[in-house]
Amino acid sequence: MELKQVLKERRTVRRFSQTPIPDEELHELIDAARLASCARNDQRLRYVVVRTPELVRSIFKFTAWAGSVAPRRNPVPGETAPTAFIVVTGKKEEADTPLLQTDCGAAVQTIQLAAWEKNIGCCWMGAINRQEIHSLLELPAERAILYIIALGYAAEKPVYDDIDDPGKVKYYLDDEDLLHVPKLTVEAVSSWK
Ligand SMILES: Cc1cc2nc3c(=O)[nH]c(=O)nc-3n(C[C@H](O)[C@H](O)[C@H](O)COP(=O)(O)O)c2cc1C
Repeated sequence: MELKQVLKERRTVRRFSQTPIPDEELHELIDAARLASCARNDQRLRYVVVRTPELVRSIFKFTAWAGSVAPRRNPVPGETAPTAFIVVTGKKEEADTPLLQTDCGAAVQTIQLAAWEKNIGCCWMGAINRQEIHSLLELPAERAILYIIALGYAAEKPVYDDIDDPGKVKYYLDDEDLLHVPKLTVEAVSSWK
C-alpha cells in the first residue's frame, strides 16, 4: 500500500475481528516503532506486547472508548474487542516531560501507520486506568505507562470528511453506523509566508 493511501485511509478503529494477530506481525510493529524519531536518539521508550487472551480481556476492562459517540463504539468482548494491546512505558520520573511524551506520540503514530498496511486497526488510548493496568502487568515501580494501543484486524472502516470549520471537528456516526472523522483542510490549518 502506498504511504499516501495509508495516510488518507488510516482511521482509528474500535471494532475488531476476533482473529488473533500473529506474533510476527506484532514484532514488525515494534520494529517500526523502534526506528521512529526521538529526542537526542535516547530511545527511552519500552513496549509491552500483550496478546494472551486472558490478559487482553483484563486490560480491556480498564479502557474507555469513543466518548463522543459512547456507548455506540464500545467494543463488545468476544465479538468486536481488541485482540492485543501494546503498552508504551517510560521511566516514572520522566513520564510527564514534553520530550518523552513527544517521543511516545511519534512511536505510536509510527505503529498505527505500520499496522494499517497490514489491515490491523489501532486505537491509541489515553482514557485508561494506568494504575490498574500497571499492576495487572506487574510492571516495575520505576516504569510508568504513557499510552496504550488497542489492536486487532479492522472490522470497521471509518472515513474522514474535509471541513473548514474548527467548530465541527467532533466525530460522529451516520444512519448506516459508519464513523465519520471530520478533518480540517490544508487551508484551514496552515498559513503560508
Ligand atoms: C493522545 C490520544 C489519546 C486518545 N485516547 C483515546 C481513548 O482513550 N479512547 C478512544 O476511543 N480513542 C482515543 N483516541 C483516538 C482519537 O479519538 C482519534 O485519534 C481521533 O478521533 C481522530 O481519529 P483518527 O485517529 O481516525 O484520525 C486517542 C487519540 C490520541 C492521539
